[in-house]
Amino acid sequence: MWGAKDNPKKMFHDYYQSGAEGEHTLNTTRDAFNSIKLKARALGDADAFKGTETTFLGHKIASPICLAPTAFHMLVNPEGECATARAAAGTKTLQCLSTWSNCSLEEVAEAAPDNLRILQCYFSRSDEVNKDIFERAEKAGYKALAVTVDTQILGNREADAENKFSLPKGIKMGTIAKYTSTHVTGVEGSGLDEYVRKYKHNGFTWKDILKIRQFTSLPIILKGIQCKEDAAKAVEYGADAIWVSNHGARQLDTTPASIEVLEECVQGVDGKIEVYFDGGVRRGTDVLKALALGASAVFIGRPQLWGLAIDGQKGVEDVLKILNSELQRSMILTDCQEVKDITKERVIHSAYCSPKYLTAKI
Ligand SMILES: Cc1cc2nc3c(=O)[nH]c(=O)nc-3n(C[C@H](O)[C@H](O)[C@H](O)COP(=O)(O)O)c2cc1C
Repeated sequence: MWGAKDNPKKMFHDYYQSGAEGEHTLNTTRDAFNSIKLKARALGDADAFKGTETTFLGHKIASPICLAPTAFHMLVNPEGECATARAAAGTKTLQCLSTWSNCSLEEVAEAAPDNLRILQCYFSRSDEVNKDIFERAEKAGYKALAVTVDTQILGNREADAENKFSLPKGIKMGTIAKYTSTHVTGVEGSGLDEYVRKYKHNGFTWKDILKIRQFTSLPIILKGIQCKEDAAKAVEYGADAIWVSNHGARQLDTTPASIEVLEECVQGVDGKIEVYFDGGVRRGTDVLKALALGASAVFIGRPQLWGLAIDGQKGVEDVLKILNSELQRSMILTDCQEVKDITKERVIHSAYCSPKYLTAKI
């Protein structure tokens, strides 16, 4: 049998694809989307369709479908995150760059200078390093920081442990390599798990959100909110937006799918700040459902990686274009002429369609 050692492609594929532990959350995410039904509307005026343009923290984007931060793009393409950035620019959408990108944040900005970009943040234990990264991000034109709040420790990703996940020689983490080792080598198990325990600031808590606010004037988005209590807390701690996400089901297994907790998180922020969403978005109808339930933008993780692996920049662009064209079609068939028309009335929860509910109504 192939071991990951003999077949690095398997190790990289598993790293991109897998979820935590038994992958219960990963495997139920499609069902969660499919249990939400769309309400088709008759005779909407397709000629009057205006498009998918919208805003993200006040910045214009051509589509509400954006690129989520995913680490290590050079595992499948030598141009890494620069290719992904150009794809985002080609479709005029937003890229959120991972702290663990292989290309540095400056290289990515240079690759697509005019594109809207934000930086995802994991923190160092050194305030000086964190401050320096914020300053570099601001100088390179990043418009916000997405602080990941669901990764105090890495999820139990059994495939990575079994494969002893390691980064190939010569592939570094471009943004942080100047401060610290970015050597990821699995000896006993996942090299990334070992790396996170050793180098990441895992004692970063709510009070540190207040601290980083003093270090930067960039808007702060909290990525990885999964319940209304934390959504409300994010507002209390001065976040500019929340991002409902379970990290692609890679952290705590048996949590609900992100789409199942979106509405309660929206309630938690009570209209005070914007809400973004990711987790299992694979179709335009998924985008429509997330927007209808209160998200103002959605992000895709794995689909961009599959596009990148197959055809580089063009592959990512194709993924974004296909999803956006599916979104347009679904908008027209639910009588939404523009993004602001995508309201809660567009979806019907499956409970509504169950015989019990229907009987009760009669
Ligand atoms: C291979 C991979 C790497 C990821 N790396 C990061 C990361 O560096 N930082 C982060 O905040 N989230 C990371 N995520 C989570 C994504 O940002 C996003 O939340 C998730 O992939 C969305 O789910 P989807 O893959 O089903 O679209 C990663 C996800 C994957 C699949």
